[in-house]
Amino acid sequence: MEVLILPSGREVCEQAARIIAHLVGARPGAVLGLATGSTPRPIYAELVRRHRETGLSFRGVTTFNLDEYVGIDATHPCSYRRYMAEAFFDHVDVPAAQVHLPNGMAADIPGECDAYEAAIGAAGGIDLQLLGIGRDGHIGFNEPSSSLGSRTRIKTLSAVTRAANRGCAPAGEELPGHVITMGIGTILEARRCVLVAIGAHKADAVVETVEGPLRAFFPASALQLHPHATLLVDEAAAGRLALRDYYRSVAAAKPAWQRED
Ligand code: PGA
Repeated sequence: MEVLILPSGREVCEQAARIIAHLVGARPGAVLGLATGSTPRPIYAELVRRHRETGLSFRGVTTFNLDEYVGIDATHPCSYRRYMAEAFFDHVDVPAAQVHLPNGMAADIPGECDAYEAAIGAAGGIDLQLLGIGRDGHIGFNEPSSSLGSRTRIKTLSAVTRAANRGCAPAGEELPGHVITMGIGTILEARRCVLVAIGAHKADAVVETVEGPLRAFFPASALQLHPHATLLVDEAAAGRLALRDYYRSVAAAKPAWQRED
């Protein structure tokens, strides 16, 4: 696993945007796996800026988001379809037909999950999957105890996640308890994974991901199995890593041909 420790959250998001822009520049038909949450918002803002100011085009790109709440539509403030429209899709040139999120309003949820997996396959698989991380170690909405081989399916959110995400729900309304999420097996099939973590409240999750044991109880540890996983973390999120000086030395000695800026 590659661990890049950057001085600030702003630089974490700029580096993530740089990696995505680099991929899309080199491969205009790239398939991007996208994430929501508070951490990636500045990444989308930077990609929108590059679209406006440098002409970075997403016209050929296909996207698959990790997850969506069950039982709400795109008008709901917690909807990830809405989040993505507001943060990214409404401001760039990716054609709507190439945008995919699980449909949490589907009458047949297992059928929707199977169709989502099939659509990823039909697109040729995901070139780069962007990931955040929950304090409980979830990636996508794969909560602790999720099978490391899991596929897109319905999941029940943990109390930790419901508390962390409740902010979007209107006063007096509960956050939906169920979600559709890509599985850990689905995520691991992406040709590259880029996980972003910012802030001291993510330091325990980062150390478990990188230096803890591989286990379903901490889903992000599954990235230890991935041949091309990059963690972009700020100093605060890296604060508990035992080998942080080593990770810094690896980054400093990176050969020019591996650089992405
Ligand atoms: P956050 O969420 O970016 O809002 O902290 C991360 C996640 O739950 O994946």
